[in-house]
Amino acid sequence: MDYNRLHSYEAYQAAYAASVQDLEGFWGAIAENFTWRQKWDKVLEWNFEEPKVAWFIGGKLNITENCIDRHLATRGNKLAMIWEANDPKERYMRWTYRELSEKVNQFANVLKNNGAKKGDRIAIYMPMIPELMVSVLACARIGAIHSVVFAGFSAHSLADRINDAACSMVLTSDGMNRGAKQIPVKRVVDEALEMCTSVEKVIVVDRVGWAVNMQEGRDVYLHEELPKASKVCEAEIMDAEDPLFILYTSGSTGKPKGVVHTCGGYMVYADYSFRNVFQYNESDVHWCTADVGWVTGHSYIVYGPLLAGATTLMFEGVPTYPDPGRFWQVCDKFGVTHFYTAPTAIRSLMQAGEDHVLSYSLDSLKVLGSVGEPINEEAWHWYHTHVGKNRCPLVDTWWQTETGGIMISTLAGITPMKPAHATLPLPGVQPVLLDGEGNEIEGNDVEGYLCIKAPWPSILRTTYGDHERCRINYFAAYKGYYFTGDGARRDEHGFYRIIGRVDDVINVSGHRFGTAEIENAINQNENVIESAVVGYPHDIKGQGIYAYIICKEMPENPIQVRAEIVETVVAEIGKIAKPDVIQFVSGLPKTRSGKIMRRILRKIAEGDVSNLGDTSTLLDPLIVDEIKDGAIALMA
Ligand code: WTA
Repeated sequence: MDYNRLHSYEAYQAAYAASVQDLEGFWGAIAENFTWRQKWDKVLEWNFEEPKVAWFIGGKLNITENCIDRHLATRGNKLAMIWEANDPKERYMRWTYRELSEKVNQFANVLKNNGAKKGDRIAIYMPMIPELMVSVLACARIGAIHSVVFAGFSAHSLADRINDAACSMVLTSDGMNRGAKQIPVKRVVDEALEMCTSVEKVIVVDRVGWAVNMQEGRDVYLHEELPKASKVCEAEIMDAEDPLFILYTSGSTGKPKGVVHTCGGYMVYADYSFRNVFQYNESDVHWCTADVGWVTGHSYIVYGPLLAGATTLMFEGVPTYPDPGRFWQVCDKFGVTHFYTAPTAIRSLMQAGEDHVLSYSLDSLKVLGSVGEPINEEAWHWYHTHVGKNRCPLVDTWWQTETGGIMISTLAGITPMKPAHATLPLPGVQPVLLDGEGNEIEGNDVEGYLCIKAPWPSILRTTYGDHERCRINYFAAYKGYYFTGDGARRDEHGFYRIIGRVDDVINVSGHRFGTAEIENAINQNENVIESAVVGYPHDIKGQGIYAYIICKEMPENPIQVRAEIVETVVAEIGKIAKPDVIQFVSGLPKTRSGKIMRRILRKIAEGDVSNLGDTSTLLDPLIVDEIKDGAIALMA
């Protein structure tokens, strides 16, 4: 059976059964479809106790030979990448696989000329420009580990990530275009590097043409380095289990952690999931609207599509610029067949009205996708009806930074779909629902903690520099299982619906934040003594950030203090973590042991103050009334 293209429900079911029966045989067969410099000796070794997971042991490869070189003979003149600028009047860019090959090889030589080598960690802090894709692949070409940091993060966040992995290089740009605005980028890097000591070289792409600070001996312009670099660069031979990249993501405790993915397993899964979920065909144009700064961009803008030899579209701008029809205009302009976006974008475009979407034909579309957060039924129907004209299958894809690729999803047009349901696991993925005691909940029409029972090739291997943290976060809650942090329901047909996080993680417009992470940022403000942050349902963002804050003194000018606190959060994390609501309180509901009762705070933030449960065990039960009254006053 061709596991790379399951084209019927029966084929899906047979593949699923085969994967459960013989996990190694299943993945071994799929891995045959790649270019290996040396074949693996053993498909899999694993235990979830340490945890230790290794795939395709002894295999040697370079992922860029699989993304680019192996396509050159048959697809050299095929478009690999289409890039659409922020400004619709600026000329778009299109590269064939041959052109992409030259760009990546040349950039790889620039990295080498500037001292980069296999195993080095390289931070990439760049807007959505073609050089971002090239940077990622150039690192992979020479065996350097890329750590892409979303260019909306603040200097502090960037510095933390650079320091955690001791990056020796930063790849960046002078500035960026975002809607009607131009935003500094290099300046943020400069500020971050004042807090870092490991970085020796900064390579700067000239995107907006600003004269930026260039530190002698450290900073170089890409356009000055390229002419010195050859367009041929031998790919570094990597072990299947060598790290490919680090990507930081938030958990329920402490600072964001660096999720580590490896060369072999990640490659196999990115390609397999891309082909099957989207049911990719040779002439398709795939557009994933995520940023390469997030895992979705890694797997479904860069690696998945290129591994499959597809044409992938990259967009620099935002959905609402110059107007809320931009996404649809770009679909028509390039004949996009596969469109993959986040529920938050759909909800905001929905709010802008149907007219924007109805003015475009969208005839080329074949498959729609959703990712990053639960998609509510209203948004699902709007997307399916107005964008997909009721003829395109809509795949709701559940997965995580840690899983590397899509885990539970409809296979477009092949397996059943159901609004607001991710539905069925991909063959090779074994989800279970556990109860609070860690017992598997059998049967259908049930709800529990979503865990995965056996490894898949792109499971995270560790959290960079701190393996124990990886164990505690993902493998300790339920012995023998990978714990996702999500709660889920399995309906009467056995279809999964992801309910949302069950830990202290908030998902704001598909971006993950730990409540502790935002609290730490808020607490940096000099007015603040203590804070507690919870998520609450938000019409557009999915979840909003609600912060309860104790100040040294009740602020006389709350508007000003709120603005100052927001500024602090923006400086510590970035604009994407701005609290939506700030309520000043004189105390927080705590148990006698000092634990904050977030359940109560969540209910109040949701506007549900009628039934707060038993508050008599609190240290100070009266505080709940104060907070309740304050919240009502705030909403009035
Ligand atoms: C949530 C993004 C419901 C979930 C790929 C998960 C989803 C977290 C879905 C991972 C979906 C992602 N339906 N919830 N289709 N996709 N999530 O690491 O809570 O940025 O744990 O990866 O997003 O977010 P991350």
